[in-house]
Amino acid sequence: MIELQDVTKRYVVGREEISVLQDVTLTIHDGAFVSIMGPSGSGKSTMMHIMGCLDVPSSGRYLLDGRRMDELSPTEMAHVRNRKIGFVFQNFHLLPRMTALQNVELPMAYAGVGRAKRRKEAERRLAEVGLENRLTHLPSALSGGQRQRVAIARALVNEPSVLLADEPTGALDSSTGQDIMSLFQSLNKTGVTVVVITHDPSVAEYAGRMVRLFDGRIVADHVAGGSRP
Ligand SMILES: Nc1ncnc2c1ncn2[C@@H]1O[C@H](COP(=O)(O)OP(=O)(O)O)[C@@H](O)[C@H]1O
Ligand SMILES: [Mg+2]
Repeated sequence: MIELQDVTKRYVVGREEISVLQDVTLTIHDGAFVSIMGPSGSGKSTMMHIMGCLDVPSSGRYLLDGRRMDELSPTEMAHVRNRKIGFVFQNFHLLPRMTALQNVELPMAYAGVGRAKRRKEAERRLAEVGLENRLTHLPSALSGGQRQRVAIARALVNEPSVLLADEPTGALDSSTGQDIMSLFQSLNKTGVTVVVITHDPSVAEYAGRMVRLFDGRIVADHVAGGSRP
Protein backbone atom coordinates (compact mmCIF):
# COMPACT_ATOMS: atom_id res chain seq x y z
CA MET A 1 0.00 0.00 0.00
CA ILE A 2 1.14 3.51 -0.92
CA GLU A 3 0.32 6.25 1.61
CA LEU A 4 1.22 9.89 1.15
CA GLN A 5 0.25 11.92 4.22
CA ASP A 6 0.29 15.73 4.01
CA VAL A 7 3.24 15.59 1.67
CA THR A 8 4.78 18.85 0.57
CA LYS A 9 7.77 19.37 -1.67
CA ARG A 10 9.53 22.71 -1.87
CA TYR A 11 12.55 23.87 -3.78
CA VAL A 12 14.61 26.95 -3.18
CA VAL A 13 15.57 28.52 -6.48
CA GLY A 14 17.71 31.62 -6.05
CA ARG A 15 15.94 33.62 -3.36
CA GLU A 16 12.56 32.17 -4.06
CA GLU A 17 10.97 29.14 -2.53
CA ILE A 18 8.60 27.27 -4.78
CA SER A 19 6.01 24.78 -3.60
CA VAL A 20 5.76 21.89 -6.00
CA LEU A 21 3.49 19.67 -3.88
CA GLN A 22 1.17 21.04 -1.22
CA ASP A 23 -0.51 18.90 1.43
CA VAL A 24 -0.90 15.89 -0.80
CA THR A 25 -2.68 13.02 0.93
CA LEU A 26 -3.29 9.92 -1.15
CA THR A 27 -3.71 6.21 -0.45
CA ILE A 28 -3.30 3.62 -3.19
CA HIS A 29 -4.24 0.07 -2.26
CA ASP A 30 -2.46 -3.05 -3.45
CA GLY A 31 -3.67 -4.19 -6.85
CA ALA A 32 -5.05 -0.79 -7.88
CA PHE A 33 -4.64 0.73 -11.34
CA VAL A 34 -4.44 4.52 -10.99
CA SER A 35 -3.83 7.26 -13.54
CA ILE A 36 -2.39 10.62 -12.55
CA MET A 37 -3.34 13.54 -14.78
CA GLY A 38 -2.61 17.24 -14.68
CA PRO A 39 -0.99 20.00 -16.72
CA SER A 40 2.74 20.21 -17.26
CA GLY A 41 4.44 21.48 -14.11
CA SER A 42 1.61 20.42 -11.77
CA GLY A 43 3.88 18.11 -9.77
CA LYS A 44 3.08 14.69 -11.28
CA SER A 45 6.65 13.50 -11.74
CA THR A 46 7.67 14.89 -8.36
CA MET A 47 4.88 12.92 -6.70
CA MET A 48 5.88 9.77 -8.57
CA HIS A 49 9.52 10.21 -7.58
CA ILE A 50 8.43 10.28 -3.95
CA MET A 51 6.26 7.17 -4.43
CA GLY A 52 9.21 5.43 -6.07
CA CYS A 53 11.71 6.34 -3.34
CA LEU A 54 13.70 8.41 -5.82
CA ASP A 55 13.04 11.52 -3.76
CA VAL A 56 11.82 12.46 -0.28
CA PRO A 57 9.13 14.95 0.81
CA SER A 58 10.10 18.31 2.36
CA SER A 59 7.48 17.58 5.00
CA GLY A 60 4.77 15.00 5.58
CA ARG A 61 5.09 11.25 5.54
CA TYR A 62 5.44 8.58 2.90
CA LEU A 63 4.66 4.99 3.84
CA LEU A 64 5.09 2.00 1.59
CA ASP A 65 3.54 -1.20 2.93
CA GLY A 66 3.20 0.48 6.30
CA ARG A 67 6.85 1.44 6.57
CA ARG A 68 8.11 5.05 6.68
CA MET A 69 10.14 5.73 3.55
CA ASP A 70 10.78 9.39 4.30
CA GLU A 71 13.08 8.39 7.16
CA LEU A 72 15.29 5.93 5.27
CA SER A 73 18.88 6.54 4.28
CA PRO A 74 19.65 6.82 0.55
CA THR A 75 21.08 3.27 0.62
CA GLU A 76 17.95 1.87 2.24
CA MET A 77 15.83 3.75 -0.29
CA ALA A 78 17.81 2.24 -3.15
CA HIS A 79 17.25 -1.21 -1.70
CA VAL A 80 13.48 -0.69 -1.44
CA ARG A 81 13.46 0.66 -5.01
CA ASN A 82 15.29 -2.34 -6.39
CA ARG A 83 13.01 -4.83 -4.62
CA LYS A 84 9.57 -3.26 -4.65
CA ILE A 85 9.31 -0.72 -7.45
CA GLY A 86 9.46 -0.96 -11.23
CA PHE A 87 9.85 2.22 -13.29
CA VAL A 88 8.83 2.93 -16.87
CA PHE A 89 9.67 6.26 -18.52
CA GLN A 90 8.54 8.14 -21.61
CA ASN A 91 11.86 7.72 -23.38
CA PHE A 92 12.43 4.13 -22.28
CA HIS A 93 15.85 4.75 -20.60
CA LEU A 94 17.39 1.63 -22.14
CA LEU A 95 21.16 1.28 -22.30
CA PRO A 96 21.96 1.66 -26.01
CA ARG A 97 24.90 -0.73 -26.19
CA MET A 98 23.11 -3.54 -24.43
CA THR A 99 20.78 -6.06 -26.04
CA ALA A 100 17.18 -6.44 -24.96
CA LEU A 101 18.22 -9.40 -22.81
CA GLN A 102 21.10 -7.53 -21.18
CA ASN A 103 18.91 -4.52 -20.44
CA VAL A 104 16.34 -6.73 -18.75
CA GLU A 105 18.99 -8.66 -16.80
CA LEU A 106 20.50 -5.52 -15.28
CA PRO A 107 18.20 -4.99 -12.25
CA MET A 108 18.68 -8.66 -11.36
CA ALA A 109 22.44 -8.20 -11.48
CA TYR A 110 22.09 -5.32 -8.98
CA ALA A 111 19.92 -7.58 -6.83
CA GLY A 112 22.65 -10.28 -6.83
CA VAL A 113 20.80 -12.88 -8.91
CA GLY A 114 23.12 -15.48 -10.51
CA ARG A 115 23.87 -15.50 -14.23
CA ALA A 116 21.84 -18.54 -15.27
CA LYS A 117 18.75 -17.45 -13.40
CA ARG A 118 19.10 -13.91 -14.76
CA ARG A 119 19.12 -15.17 -18.30
CA LYS A 120 16.15 -17.47 -17.77
CA GLU A 121 14.06 -14.79 -16.04
CA ALA A 122 14.92 -12.14 -18.65
CA GLU A 123 13.86 -14.52 -21.43
CA ARG A 124 10.63 -15.29 -19.64
CA ARG A 125 9.79 -11.62 -19.09
CA LEU A 126 10.61 -10.69 -22.67
CA ALA A 127 8.37 -13.53 -23.89
CA GLU A 128 5.64 -12.22 -21.60
CA VAL A 129 5.71 -8.85 -23.38
CA GLY A 130 5.79 -10.53 -26.81
CA LEU A 131 9.48 -10.08 -27.62
CA GLU A 132 10.74 -13.66 -27.57
CA ASN A 133 12.10 -13.12 -31.10
CA ARG A 134 13.98 -9.92 -30.26
CA LEU A 135 16.24 -11.08 -27.42
CA THR A 136 19.56 -10.06 -28.92
CA HIS A 137 18.41 -6.87 -30.64
CA LEU A 138 19.92 -3.57 -29.57
CA PRO A 139 17.39 -0.83 -28.71
CA SER A 140 18.27 0.99 -31.95
CA ALA A 141 17.00 -2.03 -33.90
CA LEU A 142 13.61 -1.98 -32.15
CA SER A 143 10.52 0.15 -32.71
CA GLY A 144 9.32 2.57 -30.03
CA GLY A 145 6.63 0.18 -28.86
CA GLN A 146 9.14 -2.68 -28.69
CA ARG A 147 11.59 -0.53 -26.71
CA GLN A 148 8.86 0.28 -24.23
CA ARG A 149 8.09 -3.44 -23.94
CA VAL A 150 11.76 -4.11 -23.12
CA ALA A 151 11.57 -1.36 -20.49
CA ILE A 152 8.43 -2.94 -19.03
CA ALA A 153 10.07 -6.38 -18.93
CA ARG A 154 13.04 -4.78 -17.16
CA ALA A 155 10.72 -3.07 -14.68
CA LEU A 156 9.16 -6.44 -13.83
CA VAL A 157 12.15 -8.76 -13.40
CA ASN A 158 12.56 -8.27 -9.69
CA GLU A 159 8.83 -8.88 -9.21
CA PRO A 160 7.97 -5.43 -7.89
CA SER A 161 4.68 -4.91 -6.11
CA VAL A 162 4.34 -1.47 -7.72
CA LEU A 163 4.87 -0.38 -11.32
CA LEU A 164 5.27 3.40 -11.77
CA ALA A 165 5.08 4.77 -15.31
CA ASP A 166 5.74 8.43 -16.19
CA GLU A 167 4.10 9.27 -19.54
CA PRO A 168 4.82 5.73 -20.88
CA THR A 169 2.91 6.36 -24.12
CA GLY A 170 4.15 9.93 -24.64
CA ALA A 171 6.67 8.95 -27.31
CA LEU A 172 4.44 6.42 -29.08
CA ASP A 173 1.75 6.65 -31.74
CA SER A 174 -1.74 6.22 -30.35
CA SER A 175 -2.31 2.64 -31.48
CA THR A 176 1.05 1.50 -30.02
CA GLY A 177 0.22 3.48 -26.88
CA GLN A 178 -3.03 1.55 -26.52
CA ASP A 179 -1.16 -1.75 -26.86
CA ILE A 180 1.14 -0.65 -24.04
CA MET A 181 -1.84 0.31 -21.87
CA SER A 182 -3.46 -3.08 -22.55
CA LEU A 183 -0.23 -4.67 -21.40
CA PHE A 184 -0.33 -2.64 -18.17
CA GLN A 185 -3.92 -3.72 -17.73
CA SER A 186 -3.07 -7.41 -18.01
CA LEU A 187 -0.12 -6.97 -15.64
CA ASN A 188 -2.45 -5.26 -13.19
CA LYS A 189 -4.74 -8.30 -13.39
CA THR A 190 -1.85 -10.45 -12.16
CA GLY A 191 -1.83 -8.34 -8.98
CA VAL A 192 0.77 -5.64 -9.68
CA THR A 193 -0.23 -2.16 -8.51
CA VAL A 194 0.05 0.19 -11.51
CA VAL A 195 0.34 3.99 -11.38
CA VAL A 196 0.51 5.77 -14.75
CA ILE A 197 1.09 9.48 -15.34
CA THR A 198 -0.44 10.68 -18.57
CA HIS A 199 -1.64 13.76 -20.44
CA ASP A 200 -3.94 11.68 -22.60
CA PRO A 201 -7.53 11.07 -21.41
CA SER A 202 -7.84 7.99 -23.62
CA VAL A 203 -4.79 6.52 -21.85
CA ALA A 204 -6.19 7.44 -18.42
CA GLU A 205 -9.35 5.51 -19.23
CA TYR A 206 -7.55 2.21 -18.82
CA ALA A 207 -7.16 2.85 -15.11
CA GLY A 208 -9.83 2.19 -12.52
CA ARG A 209 -9.16 5.45 -10.70
CA MET A 210 -8.12 8.88 -11.86
CA VAL A 211 -6.29 11.41 -9.69
CA ARG A 212 -5.90 14.94 -11.00
CA LEU A 213 -3.20 17.36 -9.88
CA PHE A 214 -3.20 21.12 -10.34
CA ASP A 215 -0.51 23.42 -8.96
CA GLY A 216 0.76 20.73 -6.62
CA ARG A 217 -2.60 19.85 -5.12
CA ILE A 218 -4.98 16.98 -5.71
CA VAL A 219 -8.09 18.57 -7.22
CA ALA A 220 -9.98 15.44 -8.27
CA ASP A 221 -9.92 11.76 -7.37
CA HIS A 222 -12.56 9.46 -8.73
CA VAL A 223 -13.43 6.07 -10.13
CA ALA A 224 -12.62 5.90 -13.85
CA GLY A 225 -13.25 3.73 -16.94
CA GLY A 226 -11.06 0.76 -16.16
CA SER A 227 -12.98 -1.30 -18.65
CA ARG A 228 -11.39 -0.70 -22.01
CA PRO A 229 -10.59 -3.94 -23.83
N1 LIG B 1 14.99 20.04 -8.77
C1 LIG B 1 14.10 21.02 -8.93
N2 LIG B 1 14.41 22.28 -8.57
C2 LIG B 1 13.52 23.29 -8.71
N3 LIG B 1 12.28 23.13 -9.24
C3 LIG B 1 11.92 21.91 -9.62
C4 LIG B 1 12.79 20.79 -9.49
N4 LIG B 1 12.15 19.68 -9.95
C5 LIG B 1 10.94 20.10 -10.35
N5 LIG B 1 10.79 21.44 -10.17
C6 LIG B 1 9.60 22.25 -10.48
O1 LIG B 1 8.48 21.61 -9.93
C7 LIG B 1 7.34 21.77 -10.74
C8 LIG B 1 6.68 20.44 -10.97
O2 LIG B 1 7.53 19.61 -11.74
P1 LIG B 1 7.11 18.14 -12.18
O3 LIG B 1 6.81 17.32 -10.98
O4 LIG B 1 8.17 17.64 -13.09
O5 LIG B 1 5.76 18.41 -12.98
P2 LIG B 1 4.99 17.52 -14.06
O6 LIG B 1 5.56 16.15 -14.05
O7 LIG B 1 3.55 17.57 -13.62
O8 LIG B 1 5.16 18.22 -15.37
C9 LIG B 1 7.81 22.47 -11.99
O9 LIG B 1 7.46 23.83 -11.91
C10 LIG B 1 9.31 22.30 -11.96
O10 LIG B 1 9.95 23.36 -12.58
MG1 LIG C 1 6.51 15.10 -15.51
